[in-house]
Amino acid sequence: MKFNIALLKGDGIGPEIVESACAVLDRIGEKYGHGFTYTPYLMGGCAIDACGEPLPQETIDGCLASDSVLLGAVGGPKWDSLPGHLRPEKGLLGIRAALGLYTNIRPARLYDSLAAESPLRADIAARGIDLVIFRELIGGIYFGERGRSGDGMTAYDTEKYSAYEIERIAHAAFRAARLRRGKVTSIDKANVLESSRLWRETVHRVAEQYPDVKCEDMLVDNAAMQLVKNPSQFDVVVTSNIFGDILSDEASQVTGSIGLLPSASVGDSTRGLYEPIHGSAPDIAGTGKANPIATILSAAMMLRYAFSLETEAKAIEAAVDAVLREGFRTADILGASHAAPLSCPEMTEKILERI
Ligand code: IPM
Ligand code: MG
Repeated sequence: MKFNIALLKGDGIGPEIVESACAVLDRIGEKYGHGFTYTPYLMGGCAIDACGEPLPQETIDGCLASDSVLLGAVGGPKWDSLPGHLRPEKGLLGIRAALGLYTNIRPARLYDSLAAESPLRADIAARGIDLVIFRELIGGIYFGERGRSGDGMTAYDTEKYSAYEIERIAHAAFRAARLRRGKVTSIDKANVLESSRLWRETVHRVAEQYPDVKCEDMLVDNAAMQLVKNPSQFDVVVTSNIFGDILSDEASQVTGSIGLLPSASVGDSTRGLYEPIHGSAPDIAGTGKANPIATILSAAMMLRYAFSLETEAKAIEAAVDAVLREGFRTADILGASHAAPLSCPEMTEKILERI
């Protein structure tokens, strides 16, 4: 089969890690007889430099015309002093909204081979971590009304959700739980926020349609604690945009490295956007120190969700498992290991060899 992938390489380490993921896709293409073609578009800081805006219309049109989108990372100190509407991050939020990607899927699992790198106490890590965060991606405080009032010394951002927005992500989470261990933890701040009270009511209503799935509520502050105290209790987590942003970074750390975690952003069509959960790491851009694994695993998620190529997705995941088990490490996951760290292209090569 043939697939047309839009590439948003972005800034910092973005181009290096996207190149690695494309090399892996090409190897999969050779092995299983698929053709992947790539069309690059500008988004983020590189788009600001080239066209004065973080998300040119051509990029939106190109993504809409593609079968799927692979993204590296955006942002960097170079653009930090720009006003909010011109920041690279605005491009990322814009493309998520333009493609209607309301569900952000962020799996976090602890690789046995990396358990020693987890900052968790050994007895907690030994119980394992295998959870997936369903983060609402195009609503809430990220997209609510914001501004400054009066003399500019008062600022506000608005958390706002409709029942419809909550329902559609809740359904996605419950469907996923059915294929996993059958448990959904809905995270909110319903003891304080009205939007969270609507969130909770709505999730409960959706839960009635999935009597086979266990549903529980957890307050976000407690969830932050439980993620380090007893992370093995979580299966599917469903939460708002801002809480999901924060908790997914935390989840990535308890599993050892943010350099390992992929994500998929999907909506009602099969076209989605696939990206590592980490940022553009401008401090190591161009040094070869980036870990390509999160982006490579994001490409695997693309094969699974956008193209229904489960065998091919598993082949990538198995190759990543294998290199980690064999002890190959990039600098970020070196931990106490005495192995010499591999560069981004070297790690990519090891993964290619095992596909
Ligand atoms: C993420 C990032 C983005 C977000 C930033 C870069 C806007 O932190 O994808 O988690 O907050 O959504
Ligand atoms: Mg984040």
